Amino acid sequence: MPLPRALHVPFLALVWCVVSLCASRLNVPRVLLPYNHHTPTNFTLKVYNGGCYKWECSRQEVALLAGVEEDGCANEVVVSAISRSPSRQTAIILAQDSGSGDVLRCDVLVDAIHNLEIITTTRELYEEEAPEAFEVQAYDSLGNQFSTLEGMEMIWELETLTGQESSAGPQSVLRWV
Ligand SMILES: *[C@@H]1O[C@H](CO)[C@@H](O)[C@H](O)[C@H]1NC(C)=O
Repeated sequence: MPLPRALHVPFLALVWCVVSLCASRLNVPRVLLPYNHHTPTNFTLKVYNGGCYKWECSRQEVALLAGVEEDGCANEVVVSAISRSPSRQTAIILAQDSGSGDVLRCDVLVDAIHNLEIITTTRELYEEEAPEAFEVQAYDSLGNQFSTLEGMEMIWELETLTGQESSAGPQSVLRWV
């Protein structure tokens, strides 16, 4: 039986809600983490609107899951990019709802940083000026932006307008935010 016309809008809104907002989902469907030989980068995967999940990763030599106990369930997990290869590695993380059995999926990619970009409102800093936040974003060779750069050490170099270079430790002049 077709729905009365007046019911169409609320009905569609309800369907939209069920399939998008109200359904359980992960904070990200895909995460791109930088390959870092020294300190693995971590990223927290969370389930919105969900119950308790059992997590598994298809390739533990690429990404390690922390924060889940054996036979336990959780609605978030820390993904550690432990890949030992600078070439692109992928793994699939599955989260299964321990009640309903529903499965959520996240693709994890670990790759080397190809280029960096500094995001700031100014390229020139004048002495005695208010502090300015400099943010770095990193991209892989295909132009995809990395999800986080946590744990990556950066050396900042400041150049004066006369062309003289001076090195600045990460803490001394420019602060990481
Ligand atoms: C990520 O987590 C691992 C294991 O808990 C830790 O050894 C590492 O230092 C963390 N990485 C960063 C960048 O904090």
